[in-house]
Amino acid sequence: MTTKLIRGRLLSFKRAPLSMTDSASYVYEHDGALLVADGKIAAAGDYAKVKGEAATDVEEIDHRPHLIMPGFIDCHMHFPQMQVIASYAGSLLEWLNTYTFHEECRFVETDHAARIATHFYDELLRHGTTTAAAYCSVHKASADAYFAEAMKRGMCMVGGKVMMDRNAPQGLLDTPEMGYDETRQVIGDWHGKGRNHVAITPRFAITSTPAQMKAAQTLAEEFPDLFIQTHLSENHEEIRYTCELFPEATDYTDIYDRYGLLGRKTLLGHAIHLSEREADALSEAGSVAVHCPTSNLFLGSGLFPMKSLMRRDKPVRVAIATDIGGGSSYSMLRTLDEAYKIQQLLGERLNPFESFYLMTRGNAEALSMENDIGTLDVGSTADLVVLDAAPTPAMKLRMETIQSLPEELFLLQTMGDDRAVVETYVAGEAMKSVLA
Ligand code: GUN
Ligand code: ZN
Repeated sequence: MTTKLIRGRLLSFKRAPLSMTDSASYVYEHDGALLVADGKIAAAGDYAKVKGEAATDVEEIDHRPHLIMPGFIDCHMHFPQMQVIASYAGSLLEWLNTYTFHEECRFVETDHAARIATHFYDELLRHGTTTAAAYCSVHKASADAYFAEAMKRGMCMVGGKVMMDRNAPQGLLDTPEMGYDETRQVIGDWHGKGRNHVAITPRFAITSTPAQMKAAQTLAEEFPDLFIQTHLSENHEEIRYTCELFPEATDYTDIYDRYGLLGRKTLLGHAIHLSEREADALSEAGSVAVHCPTSNLFLGSGLFPMKSLMRRDKPVRVAIATDIGGGSSYSMLRTLDEAYKIQQLLGERLNPFESFYLMTRGNAEALSMENDIGTLDVGSTADLVVLDAAPTPAMKLRMETIQSLPEELFLLQTMGDDRAVVETYVAGEAMKSVLA
């Protein structure tokens, strides 16, 4: 059995913080340690106490004065869009048609998919993200590359071969049958292997015919435990066109509902412009609205009413994500900074404890994985991020005047990025410091 003792300041959430002063929502240990055995957290708490439980010759790694947290989780991104980031477009459909679809066509090439997969996981780890839910391209080879690389790195990843059979270039189209068959092949080849989770992934209603939506429904019925991921109500023009394509549906959300695609394991990217009826439907189904702040600002899609969706009588489950490559940063710190600003524009407050809860335990709960990731609880896998709130001269200077944990977290969120990530551990193994 390989064991190690990782020392530093520990922060982990027990539930969503209700306010800045809700100290019962988290556990903070000023001189703390994690005892990691075979990739799992075997003990956590006060350093002296945890050291007492360890063998006398245990390997000790001292990260003081840095903060050790559960690794960040990103609930929506696109693996084939690394080379789409920073594409100059007026809005979503123009961005998709001008840049994104063409770029994704390249993933028919196995070598290209494998090369980008290497870079994709390097970037996640550089930014402290240990789990993500991502869309691959329509090509099965892209899902193979995505999951093979996840296994190599021992990471817990959600992903799916995108199903899309219309309204895109020929090189990016499957058929209802191919979408069904190849998704089944991806499930057979990868689901449950290592820490891989396959998601049924109809891209969005614009790019799937009713026949393909039906195929997605069949998959969802055959594999009820699988995640389903798609996009919902991101942009007004998109919503109008979608409703034209499915005139029988009451609204955009109703399209997915009619095909049995709403449930607790459904992740709906964006979901910005929902009616009250749609928010009720998501709440009743327990589906997750995944907020992608940097993308929503970059594409001018709109201001996601996160706080008002969360405090409804029928609350909507919310997660947070980068949406690479509509999003503009791999960093969950940058992402929460933009989320904060969006709530400011809506006259709402997002406090730093809520932000750090969202990128760790909150996103783990959205994936129903909080028993394995997203906390520093004993029994969880030791997927960790080590954070330094003074990695740059400007942050170091600001740290001189900081006196409390929430102030430090807020600085990390407001000015931090990959430079604030000192180390990233996957199942107890240091992964960032060994990157090329
Ligand atoms: N809607 C359908 N596909 C996409 C995509 O790749 N990115 C974003 N932001 N929205 C989408
Ligand atoms: Zn997306």
